[in-house]
Amino acid sequence: MQRKILVTSALPYANGSIHLGHLVEYIQTDIWVRFQKMRGHECHYVCADDTHGTAIMLRAEKEGIAPETLIARVLEEHTRDFAGFHVDFDNYHTTHSPETRALSEDIYLRLRERGLIEVRSVEQFFDPVKAMFLPDRFIKGECPNCHARDQYGDNCEACGTTYSPTDLINPYSAVSGAAPVRKASDHYFFKLSHPDCRRFLEQWTQQGDQLQEEARNKIREWFDQGLNDWDISRDAPYFGFEIPGAPGKYFYVWLDAPIGYLGSFRNLATRCDIDFERWVRPGDDAVEMVHFIGKDILYFHALFWPAMLEFAGYRTPRHVFAHGFLTVDGAKMSKSRGTFITAGSYLKQGLNPEWLRYYYAAKLGPTMEDIDLNLDDFVARVNSDLVGKYVNIASRCANFIVKRFEGCLARIDWDLVDATTVSREAGLLMTLTGSEEALRTAYEGREFSRAVREMMRLTDLVNQYIDEFKPWELARQAGQDERLHMVCSAGLQAFRVLSVYLKPILPAVVARVEAFLGLAQPLRWDDHGKPLPAGHRINPYEHLMTRVERKQIDALVDANKESLPAAPSPQRHAQHQERQVNQQASPAPQATPAAEGSQAAYITIDDFGKVDLRVARIVDAQHVEGADKLLRLQLDLGGEMRQVFAGIKSAYDPEKLKGRLTVMVANLQPRKMRFGESQGMVLAASGEGPGIFLLDPDDGAQPGMRVK
Ligand code: 2FM
Ligand code: ZN
Repeated sequence: MQRKILVTSALPYANGSIHLGHLVEYIQTDIWVRFQKMRGHECHYVCADDTHGTAIMLRAEKEGIAPETLIARVLEEHTRDFAGFHVDFDNYHTTHSPETRALSEDIYLRLRERGLIEVRSVEQFFDPVKAMFLPDRFIKGECPNCHARDQYGDNCEACGTTYSPTDLINPYSAVSGAAPVRKASDHYFFKLSHPDCRRFLEQWTQQGDQLQEEARNKIREWFDQGLNDWDISRDAPYFGFEIPGAPGKYFYVWLDAPIGYLGSFRNLATRCDIDFERWVRPGDDAVEMVHFIGKDILYFHALFWPAMLEFAGYRTPRHVFAHGFLTVDGAKMSKSRGTFITAGSYLKQGLNPEWLRYYYAAKLGPTMEDIDLNLDDFVARVNSDLVGKYVNIASRCANFIVKRFEGCLARIDWDLVDATTVSREAGLLMTLTGSEEALRTAYEGREFSRAVREMMRLTDLVNQYIDEFKPWELARQAGQDERLHMVCSAGLQAFRVLSVYLKPILPAVVARVEAFLGLAQPLRWDDHGKPLPAGHRINPYEHLMTRVERKQIDALVDANKESLPAAPSPQRHAQHQERQVNQQASPAPQATPAAEGSQAAYITIDDFGKVDLRVARIVDAQHVEGADKLLRLQLDLGGEMRQVFAGIKSAYDPEKLKGRLTVMVANLQPRKMRFGESQGMVLAASGEGPGIFLLDPDDGAQPGMRVK
């Protein structure tokens, strides 16, 4: 039966570049979509830029341009990057579109009619200078727990505590630097806690296979913590769509973002004469809507989104597939290490996008586990699997066929040699086609790493066959022409089957294979079982793929070290300030580093002088029972002893700290903790990546010396 599948990847924000972290998802989705299309299903892959919200508004303002200008520029860049990696959307649109506006209004009004929208007064921080309400990520201040300065309104990057902005000490607006005031205004809520919603979501998330098991379990936990109503409005000034009947109130960006999937599809449907209503309304069971997302936005896609759709009378997702994050060489992507690699820089350095597609495929499974791009392994695997094994088959066989047999393939002998055996060639090809079902199942189930393993097993078998018959030797021996012809023809037939299997992952290479093999039609999945006829003529072989050199990777890492601004800009899926789910601290979004457009207010030299920084010797360091992050340090300040609890356990073995010098804040107000009193704070550096680095004075410094 021909399936009808509407597929989406999460919409990237229109204020940042696409990087290798994003590409995990787009490549994963693109492979799946290409596979479905090769199988003959009607599949539409749509996406768009996610263009609304405070961050984009402020970023445009900072650049001195209209938000529309900013999002148009970013749209162009994103489109170019995706095309560069062969991510083949059927439509790439923008959420700032008439289609998304109309659908957002329609969905909102239907939810309102259904009694699921409620207006409530909410008190929030307001920037009196900018005359705007401040999202949590735009409020900074001192951490109420560890007293680190300049922490964001939702969590402290120094000690990891989460809190609400009102807990910050001396809060200030990251936009203007002004002290925010508290102000109330009306907000519109989607009543997720309504019994009908809860009942629907219990059933939708916990029954059937819409979600992965890990996702189901995660959501179970959220249910147990209780579902909060969702604040879907933001006050002007805001870049977005105004709510019908509510002047000065805008849809929160996360309300219209997923609707952007449908907006993009509507735009495609209009242009390509697709029956939009049939695809987006419940009824036709042949239609499936499938979303690929990162695990950090599960809350939005597995709770808010299906509930919105259901109660507004739209089709709910058939599947929401969540994947994990990307690490590079085992650590979070980092600008200082140059592993925060943009898609644009990868392409600009001349690296082959299909190397990355293949590597990601080799790593991707159906779970939410993170995947690691190990740069040495990347080089080794691409060279050994793609160049050494796959491409090698064609280069070993093609020249003999072209030079000695006018490019024509020999007839494969499919007859039985005796009661139970077929010819060696037929046996090899039958083994290859025999893996079709396993590969089909693996692709369908997003078990790409399993598919790649199987394809490489088959590739090894083909190379073993060629090694066994050694065409290069047959070519030198008299009377071996027929054998030579057969071996090289079988090698190329096998190469063709492997190319069918690899095509979703390597679309550009396989397009060149199709030309080289002289195929009249692009390869489809079913072609795995249809060998080329005897006498079929191929074209001269042209090189299909070059090796990757480690020095190319080093140059890429270097380029990313240099070219990126120093301001923190974390990985997507741990990135954005717009992840706030509702007014309460929510279990869903992750702790996220800096917002664009933020700036710390200046302090004077007198302010700095208030901090009494001293060289201290760590005379003792111990684990603290019951504390995950803390070490208990005994510090010598040149005679005076202090006890300090420091959140450095993950980075230091206490034994190794004993005797070394560091720097401490000696006049920090002592703080009572569960484990005892902390009488100061030691200084340590940390960045986006893992690792905490204690400060260390130069040789000669003595305990008690003042640091200034
Ligand atoms: O997390 C993000 O990057 C969001 N821009 C994803 C939106 S996905 C969808 F809901 F539109
Ligand atoms: Zn803190």
